[in-house]
Amino acid sequence: MSGGKFIVLEGIDGSGKTTVARHICGVLGRKAVFTSEPYDSRFLRSIEELLPYRDIDSVRAKALAFTADRAAHTKVIKEWLRSGRHVICDRYFMSTIAYQGAESGYARGKMIDWIRCLNEPFRLLPHAIIYMDSDPGIAVSRIAGRDSRLKAFEKAAFLKKVRINYSAEMKLYSGRKFNVRADAELSRLKEEAVGIVEDVIGSR
Ligand code: TMP
Repeated sequence: MSGGKFIVLEGIDGSGKTTVARHICGVLGRKAVFTSEPYDSRFLRSIEELLPYRDIDSVRAKALAFTADRAAHTKVIKEWLRSGRHVICDRYFMSTIAYQGAESGYARGKMIDWIRCLNEPFRLLPHAIIYMDSDPGIAVSRIAGRDSRLKAFEKAAFLKKVRINYSAEMKLYSGRKFNVRADAELSRLKEEAVGIVEDVIGSR
């Protein structure tokens, strides 16, 4: 990987990563590009169709669809990086590990190993991963309004599992992983994330 730097933001729903990622891009201007997963590839429709289902075959199909989407996305990311632009990416393969792992119940360990193998041949290793670690209760209250109270409760319980997978996964990337306490004030989060990115790209 040469040219631009590849910077990924990860975290549970409601952790504020999209807002922060867009802010970073705004600060960097034309030398950066914002992108996100799921990416708008031809696999997006199958992801949307599968999203509500939690049986193990649907979870496997979802992991495949997210991974196919990522393979198409990665080709585009490589082109941006080659052209010298920094890529600020909202979610990458750790999302499939954290989310589809959390949907797999007792099959979690096997599912995570399989997702890792699926992604291994083509995925890029980010120069930096900004992990926006948020308490699921606070994250759900941030996105409240979209869900009923019962759904919000279910969502917080699910996001708790996602968070456990994220913290295990993030241990594998010491040196490129930056933890940000996402429950702090948004202005502080933005400032902290911009500081991390400026250090990584060597612009301060
Ligand atoms: P977003 O809300 O960040 O746009 O992401 C859409 C949802 O898709 C979010 O709940 C996380 C989920 N997701 C997965 O379950 N697996 C994946 O691989 C990705 C990229 C997202």
